[in-house]
Amino acid sequence: MKILSFESSCDETAVAVLSAEGDCITVLSSTIATQIDIHRLYGGVVPEIASRAHIDAISRLTYGALSESGCTLSEIDLVAVTANPGLIGALLVAVNFAKSLAISNGIPLVPVDHIKGHIAAAYLNTETPPKPPFLALALSGGHTSIYRVDTYTDYKVIGQTRDDAIGESFDKIGRMIGIPYPAGKGFDALSREGFIEATGKNEGFYSAYKKAKLYREGDFALPSPALNDGTLDFSFSGLKTAAINLLHRYEQKALPLNRALFAARYTYEVCEAVAKKISLAIDEHPELQALVVAGGVAANSHLREVLTAVAKKKGIPLFIPALSLCGDNAAMIGAQGYYEYRNGKTANATLNASAMDSI
Ligand code: KG4
Ligand code: ZN
Repeated sequence: MKILSFESSCDETAVAVLSAEGDCITVLSSTIATQIDIHRLYGGVVPEIASRAHIDAISRLTYGALSESGCTLSEIDLVAVTANPGLIGALLVAVNFAKSLAISNGIPLVPVDHIKGHIAAAYLNTETPPKPPFLALALSGGHTSIYRVDTYTDYKVIGQTRDDAIGESFDKIGRMIGIPYPAGKGFDALSREGFIEATGKNEGFYSAYKKAKLYREGDFALPSPALNDGTLDFSFSGLKTAAINLLHRYEQKALPLNRALFAARYTYEVCEAVAKKISLAIDEHPELQALVVAGGVAANSHLREVLTAVAKKKGIPLFIPALSLCGDNAAMIGAQGYYEYRNGKTANATLNASAMDSI
C-alpha cells in the first residue's frame, strides 16, 4: 500500500510518501520545510507565523514529495495526518489540507498522534522493526515520556516529566548561554567540547567524565532531573532554576564562564537521569523485550551513547531512528498511520485537530 502523510504540528511542514507491506515500511520520499530561520529571530516558535508558513509550504511540498516518490495521487491508498498534540493553528493547516485531498479523491484518511509518530520512526526502512510489547521513550521539545507499547496502536504512559520537557530545557538554558533557537544541536556540540576539555579524551569522554578532576572539583554542581521517589517520572524545573541561578551568579560577580564545561555538566545530568529512569523501567518491565528511543532529542549524541550502554548492559535491543528521522518529519506519521488504519481507524470530514495528548 502507498501512503501520503502530512505533519505541521510545530515549526516544520513535512510531506512524505511511503510504501508499506506487512511490517516492512519504506520511505519513498520525505520532504521537510523548516521555519527555524524565521522563529530564531524571536527566540522561539511564534504560533501565528508558524500557521502562515505551513500554508505557504504545504502544496509545494506535496507536489515535491509525490514527484520524488515516482507516485501519482491516483496510486495513493491512504492519507495520514498529525491531528494532535501541537500548536492548534499549525496542526489545522495539514489536517484541513489532508482532509480535502483525501475526501475529494476518495482516499481513506487517518489521524495520527505526533508522539506515536515519533516512535513509529523506528519502524521505517528496516526489515527487523521492533515488535510490541516494547518500552518506548519519547524525547522532544514538549515530551519526556516513557511508554509501555502493547500493540503498535496501544500505548500506556508509565513515566513522564511533571513540568518542563527535555528539549525545552536544552532550548531554554541554551538560549541563556548564547546558543540560537532551537539550542539542542548546538548544546550537543558545545557539551562535546566540554567533555573533551574535562577528560582530555577525544573518544570515550562521556564514560570518563565522572572521574575527571574538572567534574569532581568543577563549579557546576547541578541537581538531577530524575525524581528520587521510585517513580519513572522526571522534573526539569529544579535543574533549570539551579542552572539559571548559577549563570546569574557568574554574571553578577563578572566571573568568566567556561560555557563548554557548563554545557557538558548540564548534559551529563540530563543524560544520567534518562539512563537511570530507563534502567529502572527495564528492570520493572522484563516482559518488554525492546527499547525504542525517538523524538528530536534522540539525536543527542551523548544520550545515544549512554542509552546504547544501558541497553547493552541490560541485554535489551535498542532502536533509535536515523538522525534524519528523529526530528519532526512526515514519514514517521505515515508509519503510525499505517498501523492505525490496519487497526480499523479512519476519519471523515468532521476530523478536527487538538492541542492535547491522546495517549
Ligand atoms: O521532536 P522535535 O523535532 O519537535 C517536537 O516534537 O518538539 O524536537 C525538537 C527538540 C528541540 O527542543 C531541539 O532543541 C531538540 O529537539 N534537539 C536536540 C538535538 N537536536 C534537536 N536536543 C539535544 N541534542 C540534539 N542533538
Ligand atoms: Zn516532534
